[in-house]
Amino acid sequence: MNARLEDGLLRELEDDGLYTPSIKDHSLEKIRLHNYYVRLFSTGMKNRWPQRAYVGLYSGPGRARVEDTGEIVATTAISALQVPDPFTNYIFVDNDPRCVATLKARVRALSVDSDVSLVEEDVSEAVPAIVRRMPRFSRNKGLLSFCFVDPFSAKLDFDVFRALGSRYKMDFLVLLMLGRDVRTNFRRYFDDESNTRVELSFPARLRGCADGATVQVPTQPLPPRMMSPPSISRPSWMFTA
Ligand SMILES: C[S@@+](CC[C@H](N)C(=O)[O-])C[C@H]1O[C@@H](n2cnc3c(N)ncnc32)[C@H](O)[C@@H]1O
Repeated sequence: MNARLEDGLLRELEDDGLYTPSIKDHSLEKIRLHNYYVRLFSTGMKNRWPQRAYVGLYSGPGRARVEDTGEIVATTAISALQVPDPFTNYIFVDNDPRCVATLKARVRALSVDSDVSLVEEDVSEAVPAIVRRMPRFSRNKGLLSFCFVDPFSAKLDFDVFRALGSRYKMDFLVLLMLGRDVRTNFRRYFDDESNTRVELSFPARLRGCADGATVQVPTQPLPPRMMSPPSISRPSWMFTA
């Protein structure tokens, strides 16, 4: 079987014998969407910023097997490394040692020119480790960053966004798999601080602005800058912060 690039997604990969978790078919749309934004960002900014960093929070091991078909595809971390105009720096964070070790092996096999760091830590605790690995920047050597956030649940620690976003020029793409229940009842769950269905860890002063400029809840239209590319319909689980 020969690997092929289809609509920005690297698919039909050979089994490399490394850890390859299963994903559902609909996750392919997530990866395509991620790859689309990463390509836009990396190619669009390559001549404007001498340093460009990609930060992948909840990175996973870099490949997955599609549950129904058995096909192996490159997931977000490996896809980000294989854009036509790579970032100068990559930092991946995952708290599962198996994911980190596997991604490390897959990165090594690619022999990329960029500086790649892997952080085995809980995302909530990872900011100091990320900061240590981010390139230094100055007026003459600017740094622009793209942070992709892809947790399993609707649990997010906004202190991480605040810590990174206040220190760096950083765009965030946040994808949450929200089931019908969470989509329908997001407002009710979010407003009820005792409810754990949606655990968005906001500073208390921000909780009140959930439907304002700070947080775009999934039941509302996306702002134009986050609209999906024409070929990809907006996934119902997409959430922007
Ligand atoms: C939805 S998967 C990530 C998928 C990945 N972006 C991809 O494209 O394959 C979530 C990943 O987050 C990791 N993870 C879950 N909770 C975490 C946490 N609190 N901190 C860091 N990583 C976590 C899991 O080990 C898993 O690899």
